[in-house]
Amino acid sequence: MKKILLTGGTGYIGSHTAVELIREGFEVVIADDLSNSNIDVLDNIQEISGTRPSFVRLDLRDKKGCQALFAQHAPEAIIHFAAKKAVGESVHQPLLYYDVNLNSLLNLLEQSEKYPVKGIVFSSSCTVYGQPEILPVTELTPFQAAESPYGNTKQICEEILHDNCRSNPNLNAISLRYFNPAGAHPSALIGELPLGVPANLVPFITQTAAGIREELKVFGDDYPTPDGTAIRDYIHVVDLALAHVVAVKRLLENKQKNNYEFFNIGTGKGYSVLEVIRAFEKASGQTLAYRVVERRAGDIVQIYADTSFANSELGWKAERGLEEMMDSAWKWQLKLKK
Ligand code: NAD
Ligand code: WQD
Repeated sequence: MKKILLTGGTGYIGSHTAVELIREGFEVVIADDLSNSNIDVLDNIQEISGTRPSFVRLDLRDKKGCQALFAQHAPEAIIHFAAKKAVGESVHQPLLYYDVNLNSLLNLLEQSEKYPVKGIVFSSSCTVYGQPEILPVTELTPFQAAESPYGNTKQICEEILHDNCRSNPNLNAISLRYFNPAGAHPSALIGELPLGVPANLVPFITQTAAGIREELKVFGDDYPTPDGTAIRDYIHVVDLALAHVVAVKRLLENKQKNNYEFFNIGTGKGYSVLEVIRAFEKASGQTLAYRVVERRAGDIVQIYADTSFANSELGWKAERGLEEMMDSAWKWQLKLKK
Protein backbone atom coordinates (compact mmCIF):
# COMPACT_ATOMS: atom_id res chain seq x y z
CA MET A 1 0.00 0.00 0.00
CA LYS A 2 1.41 3.41 -0.93
CA LYS A 3 1.89 5.64 2.06
CA ILE A 4 0.82 9.27 1.72
CA LEU A 5 1.62 11.92 4.33
CA LEU A 6 -1.12 14.48 4.80
CA THR A 7 0.06 17.50 6.73
CA GLY A 8 -2.93 19.33 8.15
CA GLY A 9 -4.92 16.15 7.48
CA THR A 10 -7.35 16.61 10.37
CA GLY A 11 -8.38 19.98 8.90
CA TYR A 12 -11.28 20.77 6.60
CA ILE A 13 -9.87 19.87 3.19
CA GLY A 14 -7.33 17.36 4.53
CA SER A 15 -9.94 15.21 6.28
CA HIS A 16 -12.06 14.92 3.12
CA THR A 17 -8.94 14.04 1.14
CA ALA A 18 -7.96 11.38 3.72
CA VAL A 19 -11.34 9.69 3.17
CA GLU A 20 -10.97 9.65 -0.63
CA LEU A 21 -7.36 8.40 -0.49
CA ILE A 22 -8.28 5.55 1.86
CA ARG A 23 -11.12 4.63 -0.50
CA GLU A 24 -8.59 4.41 -3.32
CA GLY A 25 -6.43 2.01 -1.31
CA PHE A 26 -3.75 4.40 -0.04
CA GLU A 27 -2.30 4.30 3.45
CA VAL A 28 -2.76 7.70 5.08
CA VAL A 29 -0.50 9.23 7.71
CA ILE A 30 -1.66 12.53 9.15
CA ALA A 31 0.66 15.06 10.79
CA ASP A 32 -1.14 17.96 12.42
CA ASP A 33 -0.60 20.12 15.50
CA LEU A 34 -4.38 20.35 16.04
CA SER A 35 -4.13 24.15 16.19
CA ASN A 36 -7.21 24.42 13.97
CA SER A 37 -8.76 20.96 14.11
CA ASN A 38 -9.93 18.31 16.46
CA ILE A 39 -8.55 14.83 17.17
CA ASP A 40 -12.11 13.39 16.96
CA VAL A 41 -11.87 13.89 13.20
CA LEU A 42 -9.87 10.63 13.13
CA ASP A 43 -12.89 8.72 14.48
CA ASN A 44 -15.06 10.23 11.80
CA ILE A 45 -12.62 9.49 8.97
CA GLN A 46 -12.61 5.92 10.27
CA GLU A 47 -16.39 5.78 10.42
CA ILE A 48 -16.73 6.92 6.81
CA SER A 49 -13.84 5.00 5.27
CA GLY A 50 -13.51 1.98 7.54
CA THR A 51 -9.84 2.73 8.24
CA ARG A 52 -8.19 4.89 10.87
CA PRO A 53 -5.26 6.89 9.53
CA SER A 54 -2.01 6.96 11.50
CA PHE A 55 -1.63 10.22 13.36
CA VAL A 56 1.39 12.19 14.54
CA ARG A 57 0.81 15.33 16.54
CA LEU A 58 3.43 17.72 15.30
CA ASP A 59 4.02 21.39 14.68
CA LEU A 60 5.71 21.32 11.29
CA ARG A 61 7.95 24.20 12.28
CA ASP A 62 9.70 21.68 14.54
CA LYS A 63 12.66 20.48 12.46
CA LYS A 64 13.55 17.59 14.78
CA GLY A 65 9.94 16.50 14.89
CA CYS A 66 9.86 16.47 11.09
CA GLN A 67 13.02 14.35 11.02
CA ALA A 68 11.39 11.85 13.37
CA LEU A 69 8.18 11.85 11.31
CA PHE A 70 10.03 10.92 8.13
CA ALA A 71 12.25 8.41 9.91
CA GLN A 72 9.14 6.68 11.24
CA HIS A 73 6.90 6.88 8.20
CA ALA A 74 9.00 7.52 5.04
CA PRO A 75 6.02 8.52 2.87
CA GLU A 76 5.99 8.00 -0.89
CA ALA A 77 4.22 11.29 -1.45
CA ILE A 78 3.11 14.28 0.59
CA ILE A 79 0.03 16.47 0.44
CA HIS A 80 0.83 19.66 2.28
CA PHE A 81 -2.37 21.22 3.63
CA ALA A 82 -1.05 22.51 6.96
CA ALA A 83 -1.04 26.29 7.07
CA LYS A 84 -2.57 29.27 8.77
CA LYS A 85 -5.33 30.46 6.44
CA ALA A 86 -7.21 33.46 7.83
CA VAL A 87 -6.62 36.41 5.52
CA GLY A 88 -7.65 39.07 8.08
CA GLU A 89 -5.58 37.54 10.89
CA SER A 90 -2.55 37.46 8.60
CA VAL A 91 -2.71 41.24 8.24
CA HIS A 92 -2.45 41.62 12.03
CA GLN A 93 0.02 38.78 12.64
CA PRO A 94 2.17 38.64 9.51
CA LEU A 95 5.20 37.09 11.24
CA LEU A 96 3.14 34.18 12.50
CA TYR A 97 1.89 33.53 8.96
CA TYR A 98 5.37 33.72 7.42
CA ASP A 99 6.75 31.53 10.21
CA VAL A 100 4.15 28.75 9.97
CA ASN A 101 3.47 28.73 6.25
CA LEU A 102 7.06 29.07 5.02
CA ASN A 103 8.95 27.07 7.64
CA SER A 104 6.54 24.13 7.43
CA LEU A 105 7.18 23.83 3.71
CA LEU A 106 10.95 24.26 4.09
CA ASN A 107 11.14 21.52 6.73
CA LEU A 108 9.13 19.14 4.56
CA LEU A 109 11.28 19.80 1.51
CA GLU A 110 14.44 19.30 3.52
CA GLN A 111 13.24 15.90 4.73
CA SER A 112 11.93 14.94 1.28
CA GLU A 113 15.46 15.11 -0.10
CA LYS A 114 16.65 12.51 2.37
CA TYR A 115 14.00 9.91 1.55
CA PRO A 116 12.67 8.45 -1.70
CA VAL A 117 9.66 10.80 -1.72
CA LYS A 118 8.14 10.95 -5.20
CA GLY A 119 6.66 14.37 -4.77
CA ILE A 120 4.52 16.89 -2.99
CA VAL A 121 1.08 18.31 -3.69
CA PHE A 122 0.72 21.83 -2.34
CA SER A 123 -2.45 23.67 -1.25
CA SER A 124 -2.30 26.92 -3.15
CA SER A 125 -5.09 29.39 -3.68
CA CYS A 126 -6.74 31.50 -6.36
CA THR A 127 -5.73 34.41 -4.14
CA VAL A 128 -2.38 34.37 -6.01
CA TYR A 129 -4.16 35.92 -9.03
CA GLY A 130 -5.68 38.93 -7.21
CA GLN A 131 -8.33 40.52 -9.48
CA PRO A 132 -7.46 39.21 -12.95
CA GLU A 133 -8.18 41.46 -15.93
CA ILE A 134 -9.52 38.64 -18.06
CA LEU A 135 -11.97 35.98 -16.87
CA PRO A 136 -12.10 33.06 -16.55
CA VAL A 137 -8.63 32.92 -15.08
CA THR A 138 -6.16 30.46 -16.61
CA GLU A 139 -2.98 29.08 -15.10
CA LEU A 140 -1.01 31.47 -17.34
CA THR A 141 -2.56 34.54 -15.75
CA PRO A 142 0.29 36.32 -13.97
CA PHE A 143 0.33 36.66 -10.18
CA GLN A 144 -0.51 40.07 -8.82
CA ALA A 145 0.98 41.74 -5.77
CA ALA A 146 -0.52 39.86 -2.84
CA GLU A 147 -3.33 41.62 -0.96
CA SER A 148 -2.38 40.04 2.37
CA PRO A 149 0.53 38.30 4.10
CA TYR A 150 -1.49 35.07 3.79
CA GLY A 151 -1.71 35.49 0.01
CA ASN A 152 1.97 36.34 -0.10
CA THR A 153 2.86 33.09 1.69
CA LYS A 154 1.04 31.14 -1.04
CA GLN A 155 2.95 33.00 -3.76
CA ILE A 156 6.28 32.51 -1.98
CA CYS A 157 5.60 28.80 -1.30
CA GLU A 158 4.86 28.28 -5.00
CA GLU A 159 8.11 30.05 -5.87
CA ILE A 160 10.03 27.92 -3.36
CA LEU A 161 8.60 24.77 -4.93
CA HIS A 162 9.35 26.00 -8.43
CA ASP A 163 12.96 26.96 -7.60
CA ASN A 164 13.54 23.72 -5.77
CA CYS A 165 12.14 21.63 -8.62
CA ARG A 166 14.39 23.49 -11.04
CA SER A 167 17.49 22.74 -8.99
CA ASN A 168 16.52 19.20 -8.06
CA PRO A 169 15.15 17.10 -10.94
CA ASN A 170 14.28 14.32 -8.49
CA LEU A 171 11.75 16.50 -6.75
CA ASN A 172 8.25 16.67 -8.19
CA ALA A 173 5.60 19.10 -7.10
CA ILE A 174 2.06 20.04 -8.04
CA SER A 175 0.38 23.17 -6.76
CA LEU A 176 -3.39 23.05 -6.73
CA ARG A 177 -4.85 26.55 -6.76
CA TYR A 178 -8.17 26.11 -4.99
CA PHE A 179 -10.97 28.53 -5.70
CA ASN A 180 -13.60 28.81 -2.92
CA PRO A 181 -14.06 25.46 -1.14
CA ALA A 182 -17.52 24.93 0.36
CA GLY A 183 -19.80 22.17 1.65
CA ALA A 184 -19.08 19.07 3.67
CA HIS A 185 -19.02 15.30 3.38
CA PRO A 186 -22.53 13.94 2.57
CA SER A 187 -22.36 11.80 5.74
CA ALA A 188 -22.18 15.04 7.78
CA LEU A 189 -19.41 13.40 9.80
CA ILE A 190 -16.68 15.78 8.67
CA GLY A 191 -16.78 19.41 7.54
CA GLU A 192 -15.40 22.85 8.21
CA LEU A 193 -14.76 23.90 11.81
CA PRO A 194 -14.54 27.68 11.81
CA LEU A 195 -12.92 29.15 14.91
CA GLY A 196 -14.85 32.11 16.30
CA VAL A 197 -16.80 34.30 13.89
CA PRO A 198 -16.39 32.89 10.39
CA ALA A 199 -14.89 35.22 7.80
CA ASN A 200 -16.02 33.02 4.91
CA LEU A 201 -19.44 33.25 3.34
CA VAL A 202 -20.79 29.71 3.57
CA PRO A 203 -20.09 29.01 7.28
CA PHE A 204 -21.46 32.45 8.09
CA ILE A 205 -24.65 31.61 6.19
CA THR A 206 -25.13 28.26 7.95
CA GLN A 207 -24.40 29.75 11.38
CA THR A 208 -26.93 32.52 10.73
CA ALA A 209 -29.58 30.01 9.70
CA ALA A 210 -28.78 27.98 12.82
CA GLY A 211 -29.38 31.04 14.98
CA ILE A 212 -25.73 31.43 16.05
CA ARG A 213 -25.40 34.74 14.17
CA GLU A 214 -28.12 37.36 13.94
CA GLU A 215 -27.82 38.14 10.24
CA LEU A 216 -25.51 37.79 7.30
CA LYS A 217 -23.93 41.01 6.10
CA VAL A 218 -23.70 41.02 2.32
CA PHE A 219 -20.58 43.03 1.55
CA GLY A 220 -21.65 45.39 -1.21
CA ASP A 221 -24.32 45.27 -3.92
CA ASP A 222 -22.86 47.97 -6.12
CA TYR A 223 -20.26 45.88 -7.93
CA PRO A 224 -20.30 45.76 -11.73
CA THR A 225 -21.95 42.31 -11.77
CA PRO A 226 -25.50 41.34 -12.88
CA ASP A 227 -27.01 41.63 -9.37
CA GLY A 228 -24.34 43.93 -7.93
CA THR A 229 -22.84 41.38 -5.51
CA ALA A 230 -19.38 39.85 -5.86
CA ILE A 231 -18.82 36.63 -7.79
CA ARG A 232 -16.72 33.58 -6.79
CA ASP A 233 -16.15 30.04 -8.02
CA TYR A 234 -17.39 27.80 -5.18
CA ILE A 235 -16.16 24.23 -5.30
CA HIS A 236 -17.50 21.27 -3.33
CA VAL A 237 -14.90 20.04 -0.86
CA VAL A 238 -15.40 16.42 -2.03
CA ASP A 239 -14.60 17.43 -5.62
CA LEU A 240 -11.56 19.23 -4.28
CA ALA A 241 -10.50 16.15 -2.30
CA LEU A 242 -10.79 14.03 -5.46
CA ALA A 243 -8.47 16.44 -7.30
CA HIS A 244 -5.80 15.56 -4.71
CA VAL A 245 -6.22 11.85 -5.35
CA VAL A 246 -5.65 12.46 -9.06
CA ALA A 247 -2.64 14.70 -8.39
CA VAL A 248 -1.02 12.16 -6.06
CA LYS A 249 -1.49 9.38 -8.62
CA ARG A 250 0.06 11.63 -11.27
CA LEU A 251 3.16 12.01 -9.08
CA LEU A 252 3.38 8.33 -8.20
CA GLU A 253 2.88 7.19 -11.80
CA ASN A 254 5.43 9.68 -13.20
CA LYS A 255 2.82 11.27 -15.42
CA GLN A 256 4.00 14.85 -14.94
CA LYS A 257 4.96 16.86 -18.03
CA ASN A 258 7.24 19.08 -15.91
CA ASN A 259 8.52 18.40 -12.43
CA TYR A 260 6.68 21.52 -11.22
CA GLU A 261 3.07 21.87 -12.33
CA PHE A 262 0.14 24.00 -11.19
CA PHE A 263 -3.58 23.71 -11.80
CA ASN A 264 -6.72 25.74 -11.18
CA ILE A 265 -9.15 23.71 -9.11
CA GLY A 266 -12.59 25.23 -9.44
CA THR A 267 -15.84 24.53 -11.27
CA GLY A 268 -15.48 27.20 -13.94
CA LYS A 269 -18.78 28.79 -12.85
CA GLY A 270 -19.08 32.00 -10.89
CA TYR A 271 -21.93 32.66 -8.47
CA SER A 272 -22.84 35.94 -6.81
CA VAL A 273 -23.37 36.27 -3.07
CA LEU A 274 -27.13 36.58 -3.66
CA GLU A 275 -27.13 33.43 -5.80
CA VAL A 276 -25.36 31.58 -2.99
CA ILE A 277 -28.00 32.78 -0.53
CA ARG A 278 -30.82 31.63 -2.85
CA ALA A 279 -29.17 28.24 -3.32
CA PHE A 280 -28.84 27.87 0.44
CA GLU A 281 -32.49 28.80 1.00
CA LYS A 282 -33.58 26.27 -1.62
CA ALA A 283 -31.39 23.46 -0.29
CA SER A 284 -32.21 24.03 3.38
CA GLY A 285 -35.79 25.24 3.25
CA GLN A 286 -34.70 28.10 5.54
CA THR A 287 -35.15 31.81 5.00
CA LEU A 288 -31.90 33.61 5.63
CA ALA A 289 -31.73 36.92 7.47
CA TYR A 290 -29.37 39.17 5.56
CA ARG A 291 -28.65 42.83 5.00
CA VAL A 292 -26.53 44.59 2.42
CA VAL A 293 -23.72 46.66 3.94
CA GLU A 294 -20.57 48.39 2.65
CA ARG A 295 -18.07 46.53 0.51
CA ARG A 296 -15.40 44.62 2.49
CA ALA A 297 -11.93 46.15 2.15
CA GLY A 298 -9.64 44.13 -0.08
CA ASP A 299 -12.42 42.12 -1.77
CA ILE A 300 -12.16 41.54 -5.48
CA VAL A 301 -15.18 41.96 -7.75
CA GLN A 302 -15.21 38.57 -9.38
CA ILE A 303 -13.12 35.52 -10.08
CA TYR A 304 -13.81 32.12 -11.57
CA ALA A 305 -11.54 29.49 -12.99
CA ASP A 306 -10.79 28.32 -16.46
CA THR A 307 -10.63 24.64 -15.57
CA SER A 308 -9.89 23.31 -19.06
CA PHE A 309 -6.23 22.57 -18.27
CA ALA A 310 -7.09 20.63 -15.10
CA ASN A 311 -9.92 18.85 -16.94
CA SER A 312 -7.81 17.73 -19.88
CA GLU A 313 -4.43 17.23 -18.22
CA LEU A 314 -5.54 15.72 -14.90
CA GLY A 315 -8.69 14.09 -16.24
CA TRP A 316 -10.51 15.62 -13.28
CA LYS A 317 -13.71 17.65 -13.28
CA ALA A 318 -15.86 19.05 -10.50
CA GLU A 319 -19.19 17.19 -10.51
CA ARG A 320 -21.10 18.68 -7.58
CA GLY A 321 -23.16 21.86 -7.88
CA LEU A 322 -23.90 24.79 -5.61
CA GLU A 323 -27.08 23.29 -4.15
CA GLU A 324 -25.22 20.14 -3.16
CA MET A 325 -22.61 22.33 -1.45
CA MET A 326 -25.31 24.19 0.46
CA ASP A 327 -27.27 21.07 1.35
CA SER A 328 -24.18 19.33 2.78
CA ALA A 329 -22.97 22.49 4.55
CA TRP A 330 -26.39 22.81 6.21
CA LYS A 331 -26.51 19.16 7.31
CA TRP A 332 -23.03 19.58 8.78
CA GLN A 333 -24.09 22.73 10.61
CA LEU A 334 -27.10 20.91 12.10
CA LYS A 335 -24.78 18.15 13.29
CA LEU A 336 -22.39 20.68 14.87
CA LYS A 337 -25.18 22.41 16.71
CA LYS A 338 -26.23 19.24 18.50
P1 NAD B 1 -7.80 24.00 8.12
O1 NAD B 1 -7.36 25.06 9.06
O2 NAD B 1 -9.11 23.34 8.35
O3 NAD B 1 -6.69 22.85 8.02
C1 NAD B 1 -5.32 23.15 8.19
C2 NAD B 1 -4.76 22.16 9.21
O4 NAD B 1 -3.37 22.45 9.42
C3 NAD B 1 -5.44 22.26 10.58
O5 NAD B 1 -5.86 20.96 10.98
C4 NAD B 1 -4.36 22.80 11.52
O6 NAD B 1 -4.46 22.28 12.83
C5 NAD B 1 -3.10 22.36 10.80
N1 NAD B 1 -1.91 23.19 11.08
C6 NAD B 1 -1.84 24.55 11.06
N2 NAD B 1 -0.59 24.93 11.39
C7 NAD B 1 0.14 23.80 11.60
C8 NAD B 1 1.48 23.54 11.96
N3 NAD B 1 2.35 24.54 12.19
N4 NAD B 1 1.89 22.26 12.09
C9 NAD B 1 1.02 21.24 11.87
N5 NAD B 1 -0.27 21.43 11.53
C10 NAD B 1 -0.71 22.70 11.39
O7 NAD B 1 -7.73 24.65 6.65
P2 NAD B 1 -8.27 24.10 5.27
O8 NAD B 1 -9.40 24.97 4.85
O9 NAD B 1 -8.42 22.64 5.30
O10 NAD B 1 -7.03 24.51 4.34
C11 NAD B 1 -6.04 23.58 3.98
C12 NAD B 1 -5.04 24.27 3.05
O11 NAD B 1 -5.73 24.78 1.91
C13 NAD B 1 -4.34 25.47 3.68
O12 NAD B 1 -2.99 25.46 3.21
C14 NAD B 1 -5.08 26.66 3.11
O13 NAD B 1 -4.26 27.80 3.05
C15 NAD B 1 -5.42 26.15 1.73
N6 NAD B 1 -6.58 26.81 1.13
C16 NAD B 1 -7.77 26.83 1.81
C17 NAD B 1 -8.87 27.48 1.25
C18 NAD B 1 -10.16 27.58 2.01
O14 NAD B 1 -10.95 28.47 1.68
N7 NAD B 1 -10.45 26.70 2.95
C19 NAD B 1 -8.74 28.07 -0.01
C20 NAD B 1 -7.54 28.01 -0.69
C21 NAD B 1 -6.45 27.37 -0.10
C1 WQD C 1 -16.88 35.15 -0.60
C2 WQD C 1 -17.81 36.27 -1.01
C3 WQD C 1 -17.47 38.32 0.19
C4 WQD C 1 -18.67 36.87 4.10
C5 WQD C 1 -11.17 33.87 0.89
C6 WQD C 1 -9.69 34.10 0.81
C7 WQD C 1 -9.09 33.26 -0.28
C8 WQD C 1 -9.46 31.80 -0.12
C9 WQD C 1 -10.93 31.61 0.07
C10 WQD C 1 -7.73 30.69 1.07
C11 WQD C 1 -17.11 37.62 -1.12
C12 WQD C 1 -18.83 37.76 0.49
C13 WQD C 1 -18.38 36.94 2.76
C14 WQD C 1 -19.77 37.59 4.61
C15 WQD C 1 -20.23 38.41 2.40
N1 WQD C 1 -8.86 31.22 1.03
N2 WQD C 1 -19.15 37.70 1.92
N3 WQD C 1 -20.51 38.33 3.74
O1 WQD C 1 -12.90 36.41 0.13
O2 WQD C 1 -13.45 35.00 -1.92
O3 WQD C 1 -11.73 34.23 -0.35
O4 WQD C 1 -11.40 32.48 1.11
O5 WQD C 1 -6.86 30.65 0.24
O6 WQD C 1 -7.71 33.44 -0.22
O7 WQD C 1 -9.46 35.47 0.54
O8 WQD C 1 -14.08 34.16 0.36
O9 WQD C 1 -15.94 33.30 1.70
O10 WQD C 1 -14.68 35.33 2.55
O11 WQD C 1 -16.14 35.56 0.55
O12 WQD C 1 -20.92 39.10 1.65
O13 WQD C 1 -20.05 37.59 5.82
O14 WQD C 1 -18.80 36.44 0.01
O15 WQD C 1 -17.51 39.72 0.09
O16 WQD C 1 -17.69 38.29 -2.18
P1 WQD C 1 -13.06 35.09 -0.48
P2 WQD C 1 -15.22 34.55 1.40
